[in-house]
Amino acid sequence: MDDDLRRDALLAWYADTGRDLPWRRTRDPYAVLVSEIMLQQTQVSRVVPRFEAWLERWPTAAALAAAPGADVLAEWSGLGYNNRALRLQAAARVVAEHGWPGDEAGLRTLPGVGDYTAAAVAAFAYGQVAAAVDTNQVRVLDRWDGAGGRTPKAVRERAIDLVPEDAPDAWNHALMDLGATVCTARIARCDACPVAEWCMSAGYVDPVAERALRGASGPGVAGGAAGSRPQRFEDTQRYVRGRIVAALVERGPIDRAVLVEVLPDDIAGERVAAALTSLAHDGLVDLGPEGLLSLPA
Ligand code: ADE
Repeated sequence: MDDDLRRDALLAWYADTGRDLPWRRTRDPYAVLVSEIMLQQTQVSRVVPRFEAWLERWPTAAALAAAPGADVLAEWSGLGYNNRALRLQAAARVVAEHGWPGDEAGLRTLPGVGDYTAAAVAAFAYGQVAAAVDTNQVRVLDRWDGAGGRTPKAVRERAIDLVPEDAPDAWNHALMDLGATVCTARIARCDACPVAEWCMSAGYVDPVAERALRGASGPGVAGGAAGSRPQRFEDTQRYVRGRIVAALVERGPIDRAVLVEVLPDDIAGERVAAALTSLAHDGLVDLGPEGLLSLPA
């Protein structure tokens, strides 16, 4: 069947050209989890050294569980979305107490671990049949089948159906590499694709038209509907939150008034107030008495 042929072709391509990445050389669920959470926000080349430093500092879930939250945030700095770091630690604390869940459904109960991450850990660490379906995998499978607009459930079922029982880890990695290097959102390099022969869209993919049809931006394209202007990162509240956490990492507990002084000039006071409220709500910053701000204990 076509599915079998393209499965073999893609796995052969991956065996030949797959990216050799440090988290692909381990079956330790903790290491895989750390890598997947880091990779949600940050590109592969920037994650590699940060992943290695993290594992050197906290080689096990128990070690991370015991670390002060402020150290965890400091080590995470620059990786974006600081609450990911705290959720990773929360997951490590559950694991330190109860041990690792043994399958995808159990992994999904850990703090900060959603469908995608649970499937990734199950496939990469446990070698279980699971499909780590992110936007890249959806795009690749939609193009293969010439079937855009499927419901998320339908795509997930299709994705699971394709996972080879004897190589769930290589399979998911192969799809990731194909989506990252050949079948990208911006361009489909069908001439370089190992499975073009079995692809319904080979030679017909026009990523711009595809995005416009979907009415939303593909991965790597900031902004809303096709044609709209991306927002400057400095204009987002995420930027303000990141600057505040960075200031607290650098200086330790400081007064609110001092914080406003040390933040970049283009951040207005109302944005600081709103960011502090949301950071406190997320447990990333403690609002002490008399306006003293600190990272969580
Ligand atoms: N992005 C998310 N998970 C990844 C992985 N395991 N390898 C490369 N890129 C990824």
